[in-house]
Amino acid sequence: MTDVLALSVKQQETAHFRLLVENCDNFWEQEIRPLFTGESLFFKVKTRYGKYIKYVNLDNGATTTPFAPVKGYVDSMLDTYGSVHRGSGQKSIITTQEYDSSRDIIRDFVGSSANNYVIFSKNTTEAINGAATLWAKRPGKILVSDIEHSSNLLPWVTQDQVIQYRTKANGSVDLVEIENILSSHRNLPETEQIKLVTITGASTITGYRPPIYDIAALAHRYNAKMFADVCQLIQHEKVDMRPDDDPTHLDFVAFSGHKMYAPYGTGVMVGPKEFFDGSYPYQIGGGNLPYITRNLEIKRFYTERAHDPGTPNAMGAIAISKAIEIIEALGRERIAKYEHDLVEYTFTRLGRIPNVRVHISGDYIAHVIPFDIDGFDGRLVAEILAQEYGIGVRAGAFCTYEYIRKLKNISDLADEEIAAEVDRGITRNIPTIIRASFAVYNTLEDCDRFLDAISQISRQGVEHYRPHYKQDEMTGVWTVIN
Ligand SMILES: Cc1ncc(COP(=O)(O)O)c(C=O)c1O
Repeated sequence: MTDVLALSVKQQETAHFRLLVENCDNFWEQEIRPLFTGESLFFKVKTRYGKYIKYVNLDNGATTTPFAPVKGYVDSMLDTYGSVHRGSGQKSIITTQEYDSSRDIIRDFVGSSANNYVIFSKNTTEAINGAATLWAKRPGKILVSDIEHSSNLLPWVTQDQVIQYRTKANGSVDLVEIENILSSHRNLPETEQIKLVTITGASTITGYRPPIYDIAALAHRYNAKMFADVCQLIQHEKVDMRPDDDPTHLDFVAFSGHKMYAPYGTGVMVGPKEFFDGSYPYQIGGGNLPYITRNLEIKRFYTERAHDPGTPNAMGAIAISKAIEIIEALGRERIAKYEHDLVEYTFTRLGRIPNVRVHISGDYIAHVIPFDIDGFDGRLVAEILAQEYGIGVRAGAFCTYEYIRKLKNISDLADEEIAAEVDRGITRNIPTIIRASFAVYNTLEDCDRFLDAISQISRQGVEHYRPHYKQDEMTGVWTVIN
């Protein structure tokens, strides 16, 4: 490149950067800041040097801070809190109305038709366990990908016959391969056919978004249904179940309130009434049936109430519907754009820091950056970030063991050795990765704090830190000692 050309590229980069900073700062200041309490945005933590600094939360893939209006609304609803679907008193009526209307808000949010039930659970894991229990009562097999979080893998594997679809080396999906699997089962006996395809909407460790609508179209072409675990997607981008007769329609979606700024212990599954009415509910007991005869004949509801065992977590449902209102008012395109700017800014600079290996390519930058620093155990980096820089990230396997084995090229032999060690109680050699994950309340300043910390850690090298931290022989967990 000539000097003149290089200069003009640099000028363009600088102009782009200025605009990005201005846009991000304005958006955050005007629209995001009022949505969170000052205490949560400017929470201070003590470093190992005894200094108090503002906490930087880059562990948002795990869970998120509540929106302040959600917190306020739940608090005010607690003043009128009463029993859902049970009492005649006014408090009971108020809470029941709020709880029931939260279902309609959720249905609209995911573009669901009125033919679907909105079923509450305590989180995505419980929702998927519920679905897996009901699906296991029907003939056929479940097609599940190898990049799933354990919560969208183990409920299916432990209750049903599963076929695992192997993604490419980088964890991305090959639609032709999925179609081959579906078509090879099409003419088999019913018990061998694929009844359901399930995949994550966004990966927990890379942020990769499989083409869920294309996969749904394939599933439907071969008479299977589609279940998308969207708990890492829905707080970042629009999830649309689409009309029931659309070939790309998502039959089921599941997600968690705590990952979308409403951490009040509720998750959601949306899926066809017809399916849920077709068998006994996942859990049964008080409140979700109208009558039991003397001879123990159970009469049932054919409504969502059949799937509300016991006293429901009304506050959790109300919190989700309030969070939805806020997300809708902000606009999911704008949230996605803002987060994308933050992540792109960080991704580009992180990759330039010596010894840093970023485990995703620039092709699909999402809300997550998985990385390592050569020479460091990832868990040590996470501990240093917390103790010395007041930055929260997470290091580990993120319940996605196969995806991490792919990213880290773990051989079958190494897999067997790790498993044998785990049998002896040693978990320190389970592969780990460091994950920085972003939410709408992060700022460019957070990104700079994180980038500065990583470049300092990389520059100083592992020997600089070793005297101050110790690693547990069995678990591999690092803790600060001085
Ligand atoms: C993709 C994915 N699915 C499921 C889960 C489980 O969610 P929960 O802990 O809310 O049940 C997670 C949690 O991180 C996840 O990332």
